[in-house]
Amino acid sequence: MHSDTGNAYRAFAEREARGNSAIYQDLAEHVAGDARLCALLDGLPAPKRQPNLLFGAVRHLGGPVTEGWPAFRDWVTAHWDGTSATMLERLTQTNESGRCATLLPLLATLPQPLALIEVGASAGLCLYPDRYRYRYLRADGGGDGNGGGDTTVAEFGAAESPVTLDCTVSGPAPITPALRERLPEVVWRAGIDLNPLDVRSEDDIRWLESLVWPEQTHRLDRLRGAVRVARAEPPLLVRGDLNATVRELVARVPAGATPVVFHSAVLAYLSPAAREEFAATVRQLPGHWISNEAVSVLPAVARRLPRPAPTGSGLFALALDERPVAFTGPHGQSLDWFDEA
Ligand SMILES: C[S@@+](CC[C@H](N)C(=O)[O-])C[C@H]1O[C@@H](n2cnc3c(N)ncnc32)[C@H](O)[C@@H]1O
Repeated sequence: MHSDTGNAYRAFAEREARGNSAIYQDLAEHVAGDARLCALLDGLPAPKRQPNLLFGAVRHLGGPVTEGWPAFRDWVTAHWDGTSATMLERLTQTNESGRCATLLPLLATLPQPLALIEVGASAGLCLYPDRYRYRYLRADGGGDGNGGGDTTVAEFGAAESPVTLDCTVSGPAPITPALRERLPEVVWRAGIDLNPLDVRSEDDIRWLESLVWPEQTHRLDRLRGAVRVARAEPPLLVRGDLNATVRELVARVPAGATPVVFHSAVLAYLSPAAREEFAATVRQLPGHWISNEAVSVLPAVARRLPRPAPTGSGLFALALDERPVAFTGPHGQSLDWFDEA
């Protein structure tokens, strides 16, 4: 009989790792079939047994993930105390600046200047949409949706930025001449997180690097570039639960700026009741609300989608004030704007 943990690792291998990381797919399949490792994982609280936490912890501690299953298994079982301590201490807080490519056209439609308030900000790397460069591409039939073989339709942004974000566009996304000319003006930026990561801390940055899957070297380069951007002017990050803190942070927005509360890949961590509480709070706040979450996470957004997301695509729904405007790639790699938006 398979344990729940085994099943979770098998599902991760099939649904998440397959096609994205052959290394993690192989390791997860082996963990699923290894009674001893599953028993060790079962000694942790359920939310701490996840594959991304195990693999991230092993990499953070310098363990082998690219040398095959026997090396991984032997190392983890020999170093279980340290591995489990890191899994208990850390959270999966992947911070993906690439998501700014999907937020940017929407931010540009709002009354400027902007005050950005990101809930679930991790290290705050999505708080700098005005400090990155952008390359929007259209699939030309030969493209792979990751930029390879696609046609560049617009390239612009902060001239000296070490980060260029590629995003494949479909539909009538408002990547207007005015946007190419001038990025949204951000006059204030702040974030909330249960556990804010500090871009000035080597240990925190190594943890973020450990969370990037091994084959995804372009994401590692992007992360390192975005950390350089954020280190030049570290963000204001408040420690706390988003429901307890968002109102007080919005109250600190300077006069004359449009408050924009936004989040991506965050609300899935909340219970449905906590999501509803958050939605009720943000509806009452001044300014605008941009959500970028898995399609079923916010029921009011899901109900208004003009079409279903392709099954198994993992796409997010991007919405402004609960009105869906696009499907987005979960790392910001694609933007499929709705005709109806
Ligand atoms: C997957 S990361 C996404 C980070 C960032 N939004 C991005 O798109 O790169 C999710 C973040 O949400 C934070 N988080 C989860 N639940 C939270 C809550 N109730 N209040 C505040 N932050 C929370 C986690 O600590 C983590 O840093």
